[in-house]
Order: sequence, then C-alpha cells, then structure tokens
Amino acid sequence: MVKERSAIFIIFGGSGDLAHRKLYPSLFRLYKSGFLKDHFAVIGTARRPWSDDYFRETIVTSLKESFNDDEKIMEEFAQHFFYQSHDVNDSEHYIALKNLAAKLDDQFDAGHNRVYYMAIAPRFFGTVAEHINSEGLKADGYNRLVIEKPFGRDLDSACELNGNISKAFPEDDIYRIDHYLGKEMIQAIPKIRANNDKFEEALNNKYVSNVQVTLAESLGVEDRGGYYETAGVLRDMVQNHIMQIIGAVASNEPDATEAKVIHKNRTELFNSLKVLEPEEVDKDFVRGQYDTDDMGEQKAYRQEDNVAADSEIETFTAGKISFDSDRWDGVPFYVRSGKRMPDKSSRIDIVFNEKVEELGIRPNTVVTLLIEKVDGQSILINGIDYKDSKQDLIKLPAEEKTDSAREAYESLIIDILAGNRIHFTLWDELRSTWKYIDAIRQRWDSQTPDFPNYVSGSMGPDSAEMLLERDGNSWIWD
Ligand code: BG6
Repeated sequence: MVKERSAIFIIFGGSGDLAHRKLYPSLFRLYKSGFLKDHFAVIGTARRPWSDDYFRETIVTSLKESFNDDEKIMEEFAQHFFYQSHDVNDSEHYIALKNLAAKLDDQFDAGHNRVYYMAIAPRFFGTVAEHINSEGLKADGYNRLVIEKPFGRDLDSACELNGNISKAFPEDDIYRIDHYLGKEMIQAIPKIRANNDKFEEALNNKYVSNVQVTLAESLGVEDRGGYYETAGVLRDMVQNHIMQIIGAVASNEPDATEAKVIHKNRTELFNSLKVLEPEEVDKDFVRGQYDTDDMGEQKAYRQEDNVAADSEIETFTAGKISFDSDRWDGVPFYVRSGKRMPDKSSRIDIVFNEKVEELGIRPNTVVTLLIEKVDGQSILINGIDYKDSKQDLIKLPAEEKTDSAREAYESLIIDILAGNRIHFTLWDELRSTWKYIDAIRQRWDSQTPDFPNYVSGSMGPDSAEMLLERDGNSWIWD
C-alpha cells in the first residue's frame, strides 16, 4: 500500500543538472506511483530570473527525454512546481522563500513539512543552512536538510561544514546522500547476510581470503572536468561509495533493523580502519590518469574541458584497505575505481579460503554481488548465477526477487519523506573515512605522479595488478 506523503520541497539549485537529471525524474516516478499526489509542491531556486511557467516547461522537456508517458500527466505534475530567483547571501530572499513556502503549504495542504535540498555547489551548503535557520524558514512539521556530496574535501573542511550545518539543524534532521546507499543490492546486503547463516558465519578472517570492491566506469569525466579537478577518484568514489559498500559487507550485526544500531556498527568498523603511514601509502595504494585510447581517438584526461594540461589529478586508483578488528584483522579489502575502464562494472567479490570447507562450502569459493545487474543476474557463485550453482550458500530473500527495482534517488526520497535515516551517512562515519583518505591524499600531494599512465579502455596501470600479485592474489574481475 502506497502512503501518500505531504511536504514542500525547496530545491536550492533547482535549475541545475542534478535536479533535472536525478531529482525531477524521481519525483515524477513517485507522483505516478502515488507517494506524491495532491499534497506537495516543489520550489526551485537559482539566481537566474525564471518564471514559474518557464521552470515548468524545462521540467516537462527533461521528463520527455526519459519517459514515454502522456504529456498531460507531466504537465499536471509540473503544476506543483514554482520558481523563486534566489541569491544565497541575501537575507531578504530567504524571507520571500519562507512566505512562498507558507502560501504553498496552505494551497496544497502540505502538513507544514519542509525538505530543504542542497543541489548547489558545496561551498554554499553552510551559508544556506544558516540562513534557513536565522531567517526562520522552519515550519511546524518536520524540517529535513538533504545534502549532496561532496561533503568536504578533507577532514578539516568536512568538520567546518558539519559545524556550520549543525548549528542550524540537529543531526537527526540531516540527510547526507550517498546514492550508492539507495541502490537495490547495497540495501539488500544486510538482508542477504541475515538470511543466509552459512554465508554470514563465513564472513570473517577465519574464512575470507580477501574482499574486492570494483567500481569501474567506461566513460571519462565528460563535462565535469572542473569539478573533477578538485576531487579525483579518491575523493569522488573511495571516501564515500566504496567505504559505504565495505560498511554494508563488513560491519557486525547485519540483521539490525534500527538506523541507530546499523550506524553504530558501521561507525565502529570505520573507526577500526588502519590509517596508512606515508610509506605504506606508496606500497598499498596506486593511482593513474587516463591517456587517449589505442587508436588515439578519445581525449586524454589532460585534454578534457576545464582540466589543466599538466593536471596531477587521478582518474583511477586501486588500494588495499585493512582493519584493526577481531573480525577482519589480516583480511585485505582490495578496492579499485576508475574512469575509462573497459566496461561499467560495480561489484563486490568475496574470495573465501580453503578452510571454508569445514562449513561445507567448496574451498576457494568466490561470491560476487553485482551492484549493477549483469544479464539480469545479481549474485554469482564462482562466476555462475547463484540459482544454477550447486552450492546452497546464498539465496536472495523472497521480496528481493520481485522486480520492483527503484532508482536509487527515488528510494532515497521515499526514505527522506518517511524520516528513515538508515540509508544516509552519519557524521561519525564520515569523520573516520576522511581521516583514512586524508593520509593517502597528503602523501600523494607531496609527490609528482608520472601521468598519464594508462590508456583509455584498459584496466588501469599495471601497478594495480601488482598490488594483488604481491600478496599471491589476483583481481576476480579482469
Ligand atoms: C558519482 C560520481 O558520485 O557517482 C561520478 O561523482 C560517478 O563521478 C558516479 O560517475 C557513478 O555512479 P553510478 O551510480 O553511475 O555507478
């Protein structure tokens, strides 16, 4: 049964790319499925002076790119959208926003609930949050602040940002988005672990040889060169998505259902990350930057728009992460992510050792959890679909078999409206993961890399293979 939700969304950066590419299509799906119906309105803000009508037209135009629905329903949906030209530093503009939100709340009977969505450049997050508070925008229902990544660029800036937003919003009202936490497989992992005793019993350093997380992309940076120059793959993918994936696989008590317990377990895991010493960074992490492809047809990273011709930003990294915990001591978590790799592939490979035989599992079994399905398959055991595997090791819980697959953003918006913080990152988790990433970043920033060092369409620099060979291991996806 779908429960209709009521709220006024205020989307800062409402004319931008993220809003059009991700948020509006997701809101539209929620509209079609009845989660959003009569009692909601969306205020989009940005600097440019648009009219409501023009704003609505842009929404219908972008929806038409992804949906075949009758234009009438798109137009009906767009009638819930309003535009407010806004300068983030101008207090008067927040008053105008407050008045418009109150008026729309009456008009749509939206229950005095507000969702403030930061789809703007991160440098404005703190300013906007403070103004929302100081100009009295908060209404009598709930007031939830949604923040996109990047949440800081290192521990210090993340602390500063967190300080600013937590002056304005209590932690319980802050929803930090990591869209990987909205993905079906990542949400299913705790259930898979809780429902498959043998698998869960084997998930520790007695039976696991190593864990591999690969987030490979075939595209380059496309039109995001400017942002990417300030990030690099370490900040863009490892600090957040890869760490959260590891959190789902490796934390204790997977069957916990309460957000507080789940986050406590993940925080404990991240607190046990073994932060690398500078010389260990040289040994355990490698980096790369893409060159053109074999035919010389694609742009090298340094030729992309808004990228410096001598850029030292990495577009690939592979590394070995270790934990100082009873459960995982001695087990390497190999991680790898890069642009311009041969394919888009997002997967977790859990490689068991020989001892696992004592649990009735074939020695050296590899369980692969595919974050992006491949040929409709989502779990592989030794490379074949788990359903065809002769091993009774893992099964998907019944409800996961339905194909009600939701887009990550859609599912996250439902959580925000329901006040469910399970699939969002908490400050304590971020603090530990930034600390870990900073050690690598600082070492790298003190050295000059020999870039570019891998051709587009390849598996990254050779050093990524050597990282595992040195330990007598190899990448399962190669
Ligand atoms: C984003 C990164 O967070 O995730 C992008 O900023 C990356 O650089 C994207 O392309 C990958 O997400 P997905 O869902 O396509 O795997």
